[in-house]
Amino acid sequence: MASESSQTAGGRQSDQQVEATLRFDFHNAVHDAIETIAASPTLARKSAHLLSRRQLEELEPRLLQLREQLQRELESPQERARAPQPVEHGFITLPATLLEQANRESASLLARISAEGQRLRELADRVVILGIGGSYLGARTLAEALLPSYHNELSPASRNGRPRYYFEGNGLDNDTLTELIHLLRPGDGVAHSREERTALVVVSKSGTTLETAAAFRVLWPILRQWHGHDWPSSLVVLVTTCDASSRLYELGRRLGVPERSVFPMPQDIGGRFSVFTAAGLVPASILGLDIHRLLQGAADMTRQFLEQPFSSNIPLQYAAINYLYFAHLQKPIRILSVWAKKLEALGLWYDQLVSESLGKNETGPTPITAVQTRDLHSRGQQHQEGSRDRIIHNIFVEQPQQLPLRLGHLHDNADGLEPLAEKSFPDLIRAAWQGTNRAYADDARPTTDLVLPRLDEYWLGQLMQMLMLATVLEGRLLGINPYGQPGVEAYKRNMRRLLGLA
Ligand code: PA5
Repeated sequence: MASESSQTAGGRQSDQQVEATLRFDFHNAVHDAIETIAASPTLARKSAHLLSRRQLEELEPRLLQLREQLQRELESPQERARAPQPVEHGFITLPATLLEQANRESASLLARISAEGQRLRELADRVVILGIGGSYLGARTLAEALLPSYHNELSPASRNGRPRYYFEGNGLDNDTLTELIHLLRPGDGVAHSREERTALVVVSKSGTTLETAAAFRVLWPILRQWHGHDWPSSLVVLVTTCDASSRLYELGRRLGVPERSVFPMPQDIGGRFSVFTAAGLVPASILGLDIHRLLQGAADMTRQFLEQPFSSNIPLQYAAINYLYFAHLQKPIRILSVWAKKLEALGLWYDQLVSESLGKNETGPTPITAVQTRDLHSRGQQHQEGSRDRIIHNIFVEQPQQLPLRLGHLHDNADGLEPLAEKSFPDLIRAAWQGTNRAYADDARPTTDLVLPRLDEYWLGQLMQMLMLATVLEGRLLGINPYGQPGVEAYKRNMRRLLGLA
């Protein structure tokens, strides 16, 4: 397996291959007892509420068959045509394909995205990203996880030339859009400098989504007024289907958005699987994130998925555990419990991934995000003593992005925390995570742990790709096509009719 350290700045892999993967520990979700001989009360509880190792082992052959089937579909158009439609496997091989192309060609898509990112960073200190659902949550996850928490409040110098960012077009909220316009308006109504300029990225695969299109329609005359008539040719980027089916694409042509600033959404990748397409990469590049490392993490995870046996294959393991808990242990609630505030948006992204991929045919798990330790003080009671209807997946980051903050000494120990004086926040959160796991384990409440060494592009790439791969596999296990979201159309039809649109 390629390692995190084998990727050079230029996107090339060194020859040195080192094992490096996320850690997935599911011992708190699986018991070894044979159901009928559960000797102690603890074992009896476990065998009643946890998955048995035998159940997991029995699923393995089916998982391997499903993986082979996916491989066949990846390789053969005939196999893809025979699969339940739509088939949108493109995300699986895309990261490696993009990296290979970048190594081969100077005019690769990644080179174009990087150049456009740099151009816009140099021109504008603010970027507004319009998009909704899969055309928004991936980019938001990357920005929130990988940039400083208070990025927008920092001075331009402290942001190292990375613009402030704002997500809009992800709802129909009059007030947030108006207030953003007020915030971005240059002092005298004209943008004179980089600090006052605003770039606009519009992401919509269909190019017809009302929320995004309405925000664009409102913003473009305002931005043109601030920046002058040639603003579309310098400050607007579109990510969409590049043909006449996309009204956004057509509008861009009429406005004069140059080809350089128009990026395609691949047809064989659905919105919620599109974080490693231009939908996620263009915003990430403008924000100065390392898109090569991100893709390398994702490509390494795909390789693990396609090549490793069950015992060292996290997507297979994660899919198996989720499937068995949902379909065999009647636990329909799935909590993604993130132990880093910066991962809250990852939870929203995963909520969409699971809901739109698996919420079909009157079945499917219900995903919920919890941010710890914040939500131990809200949902914690229910997790510990409420209905036994859930499995909790912890996402824990070993090493913080910033230096550990020690509590330090207080001479009179008025707060009683003197015994913790030498401890740091990472020590405290680790104790909270382990203590919570133990409390749940003592009552046979299933948890698993996904552990990232650090929160950076590479590890986030691995994690997001793992979650997407596992979701596809879980859909196949459940007999649900994970692609497409026909249920989203009903509200759109009604809304359009109510608004008098065709
Ligand atoms: O996952 C999906 O496909 C959806 O959530 C879409 O991303 C969302 O509806 C936005 O669609 P579009 O990119 O066409 O504007």
